[in-house]
Amino acid sequence: MASFVLPAHPKIPKGKKLAVIILDGWGEQVSDEYNAIHVAETPTMDALKNGRPDTWRLVKAHGPAVGLPKEDDMGNSEVGHNALGAGRIFEQGAGLVDTALETGKLFQGSGFKYIQEAFPTGTLHLIGLLSDGGVHSRLDQLQALIKGCAAHGAKRIRLHVLTDGRDVLDGSSLGFVDDLEQTLKEVRASGCDALIASGGGRMEVTMDRYENDWNVVKRGWDAQVLGEAPHKFASATEALKKLKEADPKVNDQYYPPFVIVDEAGQAVGPIVDGDAVVTFNFRADRMVMMAKALEFADFSSFDRVRWPKIKYAGMLQYDGELKLPNHFLVSPPEIDRTSGEYMVKNGISTFACSETVKFGHVTFFWNGNRSGQFSHELEEYVEIPSDSGITFNVAPEMKAILIAEKARDAILSGKFDTVRVNLPNGDMVGHTGDFHATVVGCATADKAVKIILDAVEQVGGMFLVTADHGNAEDMVKRNPKTTKPVLDKNGKLQILTSHTCAPVPIAIGGPGLPKNVRFRKDLPNGGLANVAATTLNLLGFEAPADYEPSLIEVVD
Ligand code: 3PG
Ligand code: CO
Repeated sequence: MASFVLPAHPKIPKGKKLAVIILDGWGEQVSDEYNAIHVAETPTMDALKNGRPDTWRLVKAHGPAVGLPKEDDMGNSEVGHNALGAGRIFEQGAGLVDTALETGKLFQGSGFKYIQEAFPTGTLHLIGLLSDGGVHSRLDQLQALIKGCAAHGAKRIRLHVLTDGRDVLDGSSLGFVDDLEQTLKEVRASGCDALIASGGGRMEVTMDRYENDWNVVKRGWDAQVLGEAPHKFASATEALKKLKEADPKVNDQYYPPFVIVDEAGQAVGPIVDGDAVVTFNFRADRMVMMAKALEFADFSSFDRVRWPKIKYAGMLQYDGELKLPNHFLVSPPEIDRTSGEYMVKNGISTFACSETVKFGHVTFFWNGNRSGQFSHELEEYVEIPSDSGITFNVAPEMKAILIAEKARDAILSGKFDTVRVNLPNGDMVGHTGDFHATVVGCATADKAVKIILDAVEQVGGMFLVTADHGNAEDMVKRNPKTTKPVLDKNGKLQILTSHTCAPVPIAIGGPGLPKNVRFRKDLPNGGLANVAATTLNLLGFEAPADYEPSLIEVVD
């Protein structure tokens, strides 16, 4: 068994309080009018950037640096917080599913064998995000899954698709539906009855997270399981077009739930006893609630009306601690020995806080997709309820100031060695595509940072401020080479709601930071996974030998 005892750092003393601040969706990009962080008043972050040059730098937060398959894969909160907390780079869900599909192992595993038992007499339902964003799912993986299932005996397949517009451009869902329909046509030609059965926008249907609003999941349940929705159409393409015509304000993220009906007006694919279900998202946070509804006998978060007896598997197991779901097609990354566990086992006390929509990021993702604490004595996790039922451009301040005040109080209480928070604004408001609201959100996040840094100052502590990936710094689609906006066919700017491939800033400081500590110069490719060793060093410990190297050095 691994030893969790960490040697003392030879040069950095223990005992200084450390605040770790994660600005969600805060990357570094060319400073122009499409960069909401640049346009916002951000005096605190500006001062860090323009302060001591050896205590501010950029780190990678996308692609292979955070365990994603390709260099052009944008970062996201799951992989970002996993890397920040675990101190190592693990191949993430996207790559693990790619490999399992390429080698065919997915179709030989016990999870697939389990759902396959339902194929002779039941329908296979596939529920998930229809997108090539690669954050929660990928269209090419879905297409390979459909073909593979048909080749391995599925006779009837029903798709329950959630439109994106958040990790990809708004309006792209129509094209994804076309691509999917093409695959379904091919599969039908091979004798498998395969159709889209229901749909809806990801923020309106099914993909809530951290129990912010169970109504979202209920709307999905009603459409997918019960075959009931306020809107009924003959096809998904018709659904997207007609719903948009009826309400031009509706967008991919927020399509209402709909079901596809046959000529007799009957839903073509409710989920019934004897069926198999796969939730094909590889990312956990926005599928856990649906997984609970599908799997738990004891469930009271909403009235399921009917709980079908099905064979259910997740693309991955979403929660290792809860073993949820029990069956899965691909084993998740085994993220072990996270920095949070080391801290607890070395007597370090931690306070972690964010608001609901990001709470699991600084707990669940930070701890390697593990729900719960390592120690109730040494860790306190505080969740501030998010506003629900709104888009965050309406309230772009979100709960950032409250989060900062909780962190401030925790620091001033003297009870905790370290405090970590996630400030959500850059990301959550950035995803709405509303530039002005995002500017307000970023300015608020900056004020929140100031509140925490002031508390650090008062107790003579240290801080480490960084981000999990880019978002707000880039609100239009750009040519990656020239950084100039790419216009659409009508000559208009294309609003970017998604994350980016930008690097993110990291700054250290505070009166407790020994003056001879600075960022090393020999890690130009440092990324988020280098942060855990850095924080352990700041707390006065050597990092585990297999962690990515610390970003700091002590000059004699
Ligand atoms: C979401 O789930 O909101 C987006 O797909 C990704 O955002 P996050 O990685 O910042 O949570
Ligand atoms: Co985001």
